[in-house]
Amino acid sequence: MADSKRLYIVLISVHGLIRGQNLELGRDADTGGQTKYVVELAQVLSQHPDVERVDLFTRLVNDHKVSPDYAEPVEMLNDRARIIRINCGPRRYLRKEVLWPYLDVFADELLRHVRQSGRMPDVIHSHYADAGYVGCRVAGWLGVPLIHTGHSLGRVKRQRMLDNGSKPEAIEEQYHFKTRIEAEETTLASAAVVIASTHQEVDDQYRVYDNYSPHRMAVIPPGVDTKRFYPIKILDQPPPIFQDLSRFLNQPYKPFILCLSRPVPRKNVSALVKVYGEDRELQERANLVLILGNRTDISKMEASPRQVFGELFSLIDRYDLYGRVAYPKAHSSDDVPDLYRLAAQQQGIFINPALTEPFGLTLIEAAACGLPVLATADGGPRDILGNCDNGLLFDPLDPKDIRRALHAAFADQVQWQTWAANGLKGIETHYSWKSHVENYLAKIETLAQKSVISILSPRRTEPEIWATPASAAPPSVSTSRNRLLDLDRLLISDIDNTLIGDKDALIALMEEIAKHPGMGFGVATGRHIESTLMVLEEWGVPLPDVLITSVGSEIHYGPQLVPDTSWQQHINYRWQPQRVQQVMNNMAGIVLQPKVNQRRHKISYIVDPAAAPEIDQVLRYLRQQKLQVRGIFSHEQFLDILPLRASKGDALRYFALKWGYPLKKLLVAGDSGNDEQMLTGNTLAVVVGNHSPELEKLRDRSDIYFADGHYSWGILEALRHYNF
Ligand code: GLC
Ligand code: MG
Repeated sequence: MADSKRLYIVLISVHGLIRGQNLELGRDADTGGQTKYVVELAQVLSQHPDVERVDLFTRLVNDHKVSPDYAEPVEMLNDRARIIRINCGPRRYLRKEVLWPYLDVFADELLRHVRQSGRMPDVIHSHYADAGYVGCRVAGWLGVPLIHTGHSLGRVKRQRMLDNGSKPEAIEEQYHFKTRIEAEETTLASAAVVIASTHQEVDDQYRVYDNYSPHRMAVIPPGVDTKRFYPIKILDQPPPIFQDLSRFLNQPYKPFILCLSRPVPRKNVSALVKVYGEDRELQERANLVLILGNRTDISKMEASPRQVFGELFSLIDRYDLYGRVAYPKAHSSDDVPDLYRLAAQQQGIFINPALTEPFGLTLIEAAACGLPVLATADGGPRDILGNCDNGLLFDPLDPKDIRRALHAAFADQVQWQTWAANGLKGIETHYSWKSHVENYLAKIETLAQKSVISILSPRRTEPEIWATPASAAPPSVSTSRNRLLDLDRLLISDIDNTLIGDKDALIALMEEIAKHPGMGFGVATGRHIESTLMVLEEWGVPLPDVLITSVGSEIHYGPQLVPDTSWQQHINYRWQPQRVQQVMNNMAGIVLQPKVNQRRHKISYIVDPAAAPEIDQVLRYLRQQKLQVRGIFSHEQFLDILPLRASKGDALRYFALKWGYPLKKLLVAGDSGNDEQMLTGNTLAVVVGNHSPELEKLRDRSDIYFADGHYSWGILEALRHYNF
């Protein structure tokens, strides 16, 4: 492939602890298979000849409770792949469920990085819902295809918890499913391709999403790292972990029933211990080896692992399994392949009894070391055993069935050998990273139409990067040089109830702006351009440098009011206005606003809250009709339906990128729902004192200034607050 065509791939995996060496797998709920998946994906992709470079973006964690490795802004994985860590929110290590409020900053920081790096990514690939939230924003602003891998799905997890008797309010409080599912839906609406590991994931799990589009999904199972996971027939000497296991076992050379998982109830380890505990014959045949993450003090662990260990210890005691079960406190990631090989050498078996198993990376690792497997009859194991024929499936809820599988594993030596050999063969054909990357690149190379926009920044301090075809250059404005090229910061304000409302305040604000020649002025409004010009004239406001109108669906540059047509093209993505209108026609209590408010990329309604369904329901219904749109509700009565990529906040970022303004050089002001997207993230932001209730929820965000002053008094207050 020609150099210019080689791909630059951006991967995003926000949560957990990610580094190139010694991943702390199983340290907690956020350091499972995904962290490993993304690091290996970055490594193998970067070694492919069609790939120029891979950057894996994750959250920077600077916390004395974890290794300083996670506080390094850049870590080289090899000469073509890096981990780049981005600051967002507090610096300490946080569980993924509480990261949501900080993701707008993550997105803005990623965007800044892309600008500074000098290279437009060819694709952005997000992993899990939080990265999806970031990815669809950044991919939207840049106009590059988004690839997404879910890893686990909110709707599915939530349902499982409800089925297990959890209270909806309690799990919502802890897991923030509403936010997560919303992010997943938006990601599915935006993604060009969704990559799944198994067919069940596509057929059963994604199906419960409104934006389920199987034709955009590809099943490409992950690969196993065969440099670490390979078979050895006869070990020269027992590996280091053997010593540890021997402390537990009377007869450490007996075959192992090996189980390796995080200590969470879903993994169903207690069912295995019960079956083993009640079966004398099995105890004679084999030892039970349980590798359940690392622990120091159980009493200091979270509730769910504490519960798992509590149950485990009491079962071991109840069945008096001392000397037969090993459950070491700690192991390193290097011990893992040793454990599989050790078990294989003794003709033991690997078992995964989880209640559900979306993929089951351990199964293919065991197989790659020549160890046959027994596994729960669920999505991942079904595909894996279907491809490899290297063991048996069982029903994890049926102890008899678990027992049957375990006995079968030790009954027939020839069968065992066949399984072991099948596993090795199956891994090479179906689960090598080599085959993964071939399939992956074949898929994304079909998308690799280069981004339609390019961004010009002729004189900003941050280096400019994208080659700019003449057509996409910022409009040249007759003979005079556009002011936007020479300003160093901009105040961008909403109009109604923010900029206007108090005449004296407005005059004071305009005087203040006039004192600072480096400070530009823009508006961002729900009004269409004609109505914007009218109201500005009426209130005596000079023509702004930029006008973002119709809730962000249109951008004009002043004073000649040159429309940004590339923005129009950019947001046209997946926009089907006629169908939106058809579907909305049937909604009770919702009527179209007057014709003048309807624009090419904005369809606006008035909602009668007494008669209309909840706004969330309306938007869900649109999604279920396969309409990928964005709905924005303001002043408790206006509902604007816009293309996915449009909002005031998105228009603002596009504008900033195009003209080379760092977001920290934009001070934005607003009062209502349609301002929200521009207030969050890296922009400096003020909510005026007279704001509507829907913005109250932003109050606990420390980076948004809530002014006391109403209307433009609030803006003046913010100019002082930020020393703008
Ligand atoms: C302005 C627009 C209207 C829109 C509202 C909320 O009032 O004229 O169409 O619905 O802002 O964004
Ligand atoms: Mg307003």
